[in-house]
Amino acid sequence: MYYSTLAILLVLLVPLCSFIYFFRPRNHHKNGRKHPPGPAPLPIIGNLHMLGNLPHQTLHHLGKKYGPIMSIKLGYVPTIVVSSPEAAEQFLKVHDLVFASRPNLQSTEYLTYSGKGLAFAHYGSYWRTARKLSTLHFLSASKIECFAPVRKEEVVSLVESVRKAVTAGETVDLSRKLGKVIEVMMCKLLFGQSMDDKFQFKPLVDETMLLAGVFNLSDYLPFLAPLDLQGYRRRLKRTSNGLHAIFDKMVDEHQQGTYAKEQKPYTDFFHVLVSLLDTPMNPNDEEQQYIIGRENIKAIMVDMVAASFDTTATAIEWTLAELLRHPSVMVALQQELERIVGRHRMVEESDLPKLAYLDMVIKESLRLHPVAPLLIPRESTEDITIDGYFIPKKSRILVNVWSIGRDHKVWSNNAEEFFPERFKDSNIDLRGHDFQLIPFGSGRRGCPGMQLGLTTMRLIIAQLVHCFDWELPDGMLPNELDMTEKFGLSLPRANHLLANPTYRLVG
Ligand code: HEM
Repeated sequence: MYYSTLAILLVLLVPLCSFIYFFRPRNHHKNGRKHPPGPAPLPIIGNLHMLGNLPHQTLHHLGKKYGPIMSIKLGYVPTIVVSSPEAAEQFLKVHDLVFASRPNLQSTEYLTYSGKGLAFAHYGSYWRTARKLSTLHFLSASKIECFAPVRKEEVVSLVESVRKAVTAGETVDLSRKLGKVIEVMMCKLLFGQSMDDKFQFKPLVDETMLLAGVFNLSDYLPFLAPLDLQGYRRRLKRTSNGLHAIFDKMVDEHQQGTYAKEQKPYTDFFHVLVSLLDTPMNPNDEEQQYIIGRENIKAIMVDMVAASFDTTATAIEWTLAELLRHPSVMVALQQELERIVGRHRMVEESDLPKLAYLDMVIKESLRLHPVAPLLIPRESTEDITIDGYFIPKKSRILVNVWSIGRDHKVWSNNAEEFFPERFKDSNIDLRGHDFQLIPFGSGRRGCPGMQLGLTTMRLIIAQLVHCFDWELPDGMLPNELDMTEKFGLSLPRANHLLANPTYRLVG
């Protein structure tokens, strides 16, 4: 994907750019204002050609050279890359309001009717209202509690399916299994049903994730947008039409009363939203009223699916991969589980608050493998000066959480090592207040699904480690496990994680 984009850039633009480049002035002072340092951009394409297959890693290396507040240009878009805890605090806390918006992206235009969802909506009263609505009806602590039976049912069926593999002596494709369990779980919470039973939903979700995560030239070089050189606009149209048609059909079914009602101890989010159709989204706000229409429901649902499926599954997958690479950590976690749960039963959600070592393992895994390595891009809403650097309005802000997690100044010389014990007797938390560790972002745009994501992660990891011993297949040694990343909206493993389980509970 990256190479075809690069080829287009090279053929079209580089000869022209190179010519102009050699005649441009080079300094970081423009109009008497000091801009953050950074690599010299080529005209027109800026630094796009430098990003590579894994942009967070490229930016990490560039950040080491140019500093924690670095300036690059992505096509026409001035972009600031932030890569230290102190700088992140400036952007996400001290000046959070200025950086609380999201940029216009072609994917947002098609998938969420130009930002009628939540994750990619501009900052403003609509976003605030959509976020409040989603928190109240879907992501509050009490709602998450109500969803516990769904989590339990799906985790039990995951354990059963792994036990079948044990009996058959089969290797388990953990990546596939985790993807499926999270998809079914989230679909039940969001839509009240497992969508794949009825619709061709998963291929559309996979395509959505891909299209929302790619570097789309049309976002950076708008004059190329009509040509659709990468074919993304065509694919976005097809995908959004497919998703929106499914949601329309479901709204119709709800309205006609033909929706298959199951007896459930909770109400799914889609059902709540449809029951509020054509009513004010924010009845208590007298200044600006939004009516919940079909487009709003469909856009919010697209954002929720995009924000919850791959993030949670990928985070669990990386943690299990690190446990397989570090057998002594796996054993220490199993010992904690034995102490708290015993060998005679499965883990219950009520056990989770007592599993302190599990929390350390999860923090360490999210430090090294943040699933959104550059968070979700922000956009500044006014000119501002930070640490003496001028940052113009409408700059793109990328917070390189991946780089912050590997900063030797913060994490000492063993920053690259997976070592959960570093969090023993440490107050560093991952909820967005300690800027050394912000896998869920921070501030106004921080992840509202953190509690749901963390509870799901804890339960699934604890259960799989408690119920089974795991070994790498074909005599592979722990240090031989491939840990290559694949860049996208989330940062999954490039290759599936495979392992051989043995059941370890008694009875
Ligand atoms: C381990 C799991 C998860 C991780 C690591 C994660 C991480 C993130 C990150 C880094 C952001 C961007 C924050 C920023 O820009 O500062 C984000 C935003 C968001 N997340 Fe999550 N997330 C997870 C699970 C979930 C779940 C389960 C949901 C909902 C069901 C969810 C819903 C959202 C939404 C709606 C936003 C956009 C918020 C806004 O723009 O106002 N996330 N998440």
